[in-house]
Amino acid sequence: EKDGYPHYMAKEIHEQGTVLRSTLKGRLSESGVDLGDDVHWDGDFLRSLRRINLVACGTSYYACLVAERVLERWTSLDVKVDIASEYRYRDVKIGADTLAVFVSQSGETADTLAAQRKVRSLGGRCLGITNVRGSTLAREVHDLLLLKAGPEIGVAATKTFMGQLGALYLLALKLGWERGDLNPVEASRLAYGLLKLPYEVERVLERDGDVKAAAERFCGYDDFLFLGRGFSYPIALEGALKLKEISYVHAEAYAAGEMKHGPIALLEPNVPVMVVIPKDGLYEKTLSNVQEARARKSPIVAVASDGDDLIDQMADWVIRIPRCEECFSPFISVIPLQQFAYHVAQLRGCEIDQPRNLAKSVTVE
Ligand code: F6R
Repeated sequence: EKDGYPHYMAKEIHEQGTVLRSTLKGRLSESGVDLGDDVHWDGDFLRSLRRINLVACGTSYYACLVAERVLERWTSLDVKVDIASEYRYRDVKIGADTLAVFVSQSGETADTLAAQRKVRSLGGRCLGITNVRGSTLAREVHDLLLLKAGPEIGVAATKTFMGQLGALYLLALKLGWERGDLNPVEASRLAYGLLKLPYEVERVLERDGDVKAAAERFCGYDDFLFLGRGFSYPIALEGALKLKEISYVHAEAYAAGEMKHGPIALLEPNVPVMVVIPKDGLYEKTLSNVQEARARKSPIVAVASDGDDLIDQMADWVIRIPRCEECFSPFISVIPLQQFAYHVAQLRGCEIDQPRNLAKSVTVE
């Protein structure tokens, strides 16, 4: 059932083009977004919204951080994102103009469920995004959007992250389109971009050999700093989480601009910096952080766009990704980071599908 792959994680990474296609299927065309029969909103409700709160844990939270950026770009909503274990104990303000979105692969994460119940008790409207139709979250929310990623067996979330990004982008596009925040020509163009993404994801997956070579070169290091800006910041967080979860390598992620506010003190030749630096509007800003890290003699591993020659002069190793529109880069750039964590774990002889101390769903607080 691993389809010839040595681990479920490898199989699930490779399924991501298919997962994204399934998540978008029947829901998206160049003339609109249809989230299906489990979402019961009308036009008045959508136009009355002013705020959206996204709540989740772990990898699902990082998907929400990506969504925060795209919701801010495509809608006029005030967007707030929080981890469920904090959100549930805060004095959040929920009104009739607030949509609360709970993202959980399993639909059983205790803190996410508790946060949902709190919002409900305050009269808020709750949307659940999950991979499991019969889950507690799916049963308790007002509206439901399923990922259609298929069961994920590997403890480290990979393909469900891809499905979550797909679902959250559908949500952002629907809100932007139907509220009139996006003009219809632009909305249609973005829909087309989203529809093409599963093919682009498949093309990136084919580059696994390049990532394996990077893992062979860097698997001996015990500490990594991951950096990214804008859409790449949540991806840096996710890349560091994957690495620590399955290879037990210490990895911290920072917004690139935060590096000089403390973490730069850690940099030295034994601490490589993994920088997610696609050619986007913040490229030059991130590049200056790469220069600073390089000056501290940290080895630099860059996830960078095809055709970016400048990065060759700055980095010790470059993992290439295809160029794509800035707002879609997370779908592309997360893949080499998943593959890097996988190969490092394999080279270090780790368990991979069943890492120590971790459970697939965290049903206690
Ligand atoms: C990371 C991972 C965890 C989960 C987190 C939330 O690889 O699997 O960080 O993302 O426990 O789980 P769900 O999405 O089921 O609520």
